[in-house]
Amino acid sequence: MRSALQAPIGVFDSGVGGLSILKVLRAELPAESFVYLADTAHAPYGERGDAYVAERTRAIVRRLRDEHAIKALVVACNTATAAAIHLLRREHPDLPLVGVEPALKPAVALSKTGRIGVMATRVTLASAKLRALHDALKDQAEFVLQPCDGLADAIENRDPALVAALCARYTQAMGAFGTRPGQIDTLVLGCTHYAFAWDELAALVAPGTRLIETGEPVARQARRLLEANDQLAGTGAGGVEFVSTGSLTELQAAATRWLS
Ligand code: DGL
Repeated sequence: MRSALQAPIGVFDSGVGGLSILKVLRAELPAESFVYLADTAHAPYGERGDAYVAERTRAIVRRLRDEHAIKALVVACNTATAAAIHLLRREHPDLPLVGVEPALKPAVALSKTGRIGVMATRVTLASAKLRALHDALKDQAEFVLQPCDGLADAIENRDPALVAALCARYTQAMGAFGTRPGQIDTLVLGCTHYAFAWDELAALVAPGTRLIETGEPVARQARRLLEANDQLAGTGAGGVEFVSTGSLTELQAAATRWLS
């Protein structure tokens, strides 16, 4: 039988986006076992109502606990974190939890022009959590908040022409990028799917613009939390089990493409 320390860490997203977080988690915690669950049958989350996303998130956490006995959970989805992490903390006080949120604070530290672009889903941008973060920082920088309808879905469905078109549309809508006063010099990727459009986005913005995603701080926070709870696996080969509410074959193919 598996010891409690060997129990897996649950990682979940509406689809393949959280693989961008899983990749960094595996590098940070190579001895850990992970269960990655993609809720593909109910994706995308980002253009649905809060209540729907919260309900899906709660159902998934119950499933990960009941069927996989996870020892900790990483919500590798900005949208689910925004809609439900407060509910999860209340319902699972014994489960170490890490969420992801758009990296507004690190962006303020990096930006020289003080103008920052934030790409995220509609649900994330409308959430109380994001509003509170924005309100706390809005005296330090100007944020251009851009909802990116359809982009996570286009990445999920591997539609490169649509990904390119939507990246172009949304970067254009945010205004001028660059390092001169009044230009956006820092672009926050506030949805885990967008890490897989990094090259397209980097090619569209002016040279010198910095792109930020959240994998590394999330992985460091997961390590800190496991350490604080004496839950680190220590030695072992680690590994990942994949679970999907949609096609497992497609999830495994995406993992092969993106985790290497
Ligand atoms: N990957 C998710 C996020 O980080 C959401 C994608 C979606 O289902 O809309 O926000």
